[in-house]
Amino acid sequence: MDKDQLVHDPHGPVLLVGGYGTVGAELVRAAAGRWPLLLAGRDPRKAADLIRDHAVEARRWDLADPAPFRAGSRAVVSVVNDPDDRVLRAALAGGVPYVDVTRWTARLHRAAALVSLGAPDAGAPAPVLLSSGWMGGVVPLVAAALADRLGGADRVETAIRYDLADRSGVDSVEFMDRLGIDFEVREDGRTTSVTPLSGARTRNVGGHRTRVARIDTPEQFTLPLTLGARTVTTRIGFSSAAATSTLVGLGHIGFFRHARGERWRPVRRRLLHAPGEGGTAALDIEVEGPRGVLRATVTDPRGQAHLTAVGALLGLRRVLGADGAVARPGLVFPESHPLPGTVLPALEEAGVRVEVAAPAAATGAA
Ligand SMILES: NC(=O)c1ccc[n+]([C@@H]2O[C@H](COP(=O)([O-])OP(=O)(O)OC[C@H]3O[C@@H](n4cnc5c(N)ncnc54)[C@H](OP(=O)(O)O)[C@@H]3O)[C@@H](O)[C@H]2O)c1
Repeated sequence: MDKDQLVHDPHGPVLLVGGYGTVGAELVRAAAGRWPLLLAGRDPRKAADLIRDHAVEARRWDLADPAPFRAGSRAVVSVVNDPDDRVLRAALAGGVPYVDVTRWTARLHRAAALVSLGAPDAGAPAPVLLSSGWMGGVVPLVAAALADRLGGADRVETAIRYDLADRSGVDSVEFMDRLGIDFEVREDGRTTSVTPLSGARTRNVGGHRTRVARIDTPEQFTLPLTLGARTVTTRIGFSSAAATSTLVGLGHIGFFRHARGERWRPVRRRLLHAPGEGGTAALDIEVEGPRGVLRATVTDPRGQAHLTAVGALLGLRRVLGADGAVARPGLVFPESHPLPGTVLPALEEAGVRVEVAAPAAATGAA
C-alpha cells in the first residue's frame, strides 16, 4: 500500500483532519485568518459553508480507505478518531507539528509509544501534542495554571457538568462508549483501579448542583507524570439529574460491563448520544498544592465543541511557537506548558469564562 505523505511546509496550510465536523468547524471559526486552513474528511462537500465563509479549502481523506493522502502543511490537528494512527504516523514521518484532541487514555498510551519509538523514515522531529484531556486539554491546562500559582499540584479534582442540550458529533460517541471498562488512576500516590460511574457525589459546577461520577479521561493518566500530582480524579454529571441517576444506576448494576460487545453497541449509542441544539459547558477544577487550594470554574456559553476547539487552538499556537515560547520537539502534554501564566488570559480572550477562588470563597462552593 502506498503511504500517506505529509510534508512539512512552514508556509503551507494547517491541516485539520475532521475539520468540518462539530469541533472542527468551531476550530475553523477560531483559527481562520491566523493561518491558511485545509480541511479533510470523507465528504468535503459538507465543508461548503465553511469554504464560503472563511476562504478555507477542503479535500477528501477517508481514514478507513487505504488510498494515500498527500499534502504539504505547517501543522496538523486531528479532530476525528484516527484508529490506525494514520495521521500521527504521517505527521511523524514528515516532521509536521501535530495536535490531537480525540484519544481516550488507552489510545493515548499507544500514541505515546509510537512517538517514543519514532518513525523509521522520520524527518526533523516536530512537537507532538497529545491534547485529549477533557475539552481538548482545557482541564490539564487550567490545572497547570493553578499549580503554577500554588507552587505545584498534589491533588487535582475535576467535576464536569455536561449539558444535554449541547451539540456533539457522532464521532465523539466512541470516547464515551467505554463505561464498561475499568481504568487506572493515581490516588494518594498509589495506582488504583476505578469502575466508571462509581464514586458518585454532588458538586456545585458552574452554579448548578450536579451529581457527578467517575469517568476515564486522559488527564488522570498524564497529570501524575507531568505535575507529579499524587491524586487526580475526574467526575462527570449531566444537566438532567434523572439522566445522571439512570447512567449511575446502570453502572451500578453492571449494565455497561455486561453490554460491552458489538451486539449492544446500538443500545449503548442511543443511551450516550442524543445531541441537542446548543448548551453551556461547565467544569470545576480544584488543585491543592504547597501554597494552598484553588478552584477554577470554567464556563463556555458556546458549549463543549467550542471549548474543545479553544483547547485545540491553544495547542496549535503552542506547537507553532506562536506565543513566543520555543516549540519543543517530541511528545508534550497540555499541562507541560512553557508559559502557564498565559493560559487563563488566553482562555478568556477566546470567550471562555474562568473564575478562580479559594474553595471556601468560591462561588457556590460545594
Ligand atoms: N478531548 C475532548 O474533550 C473532546 C471533546 C469533544 C470532542 N472530542 C473528539 O473530537 C472528535 C470530533 O468530534 P465531533 O463532535 O466534532 O464529531 P463529528 O461532528 O462527527 O466530526 C467528525 C468529522 O470527521 C470526519 N470523519 C468521520 N469519519 C472519518 C474518516 N473515516 N476519515 C476522515 N474523516 C472522517 C467527518 O466528516 P465526514 O463524515 O465527511 O467524513 C466530520 O467532519 C471526536 O473524536 C471526539 O471524541 C474530544
